[in-house]
Amino acid sequence: MIVCQCRVVTDRDVDAALADGARSVGAVCRSTGAAQDCGSCIFSVKALVQQHHERECAHLRADGAAS
Ligand code: FES
Repeated sequence: MIVCQCRVVTDRDVDAALADGARSVGAVCRSTGAAQDCGSCIFSVKALVQQHHERECAHLRADGAAS
């Protein structure tokens, strides 16, 4: 799915940036080029970063519950 029409950034590009260590919306945008033109995609990028962090937290909680 294309997240940023201006720079043709996909949700997979955002996931790759997060997997490579980007930890903030700004870092993801700098890494992928998203939100560097019209900026209308910033809310979609924020949502993907939020979803990623929520998955990480759920994973950590599950690991903590198992130990
Ligand atoms: S849609 Fe991302 S900068 Fe325009």
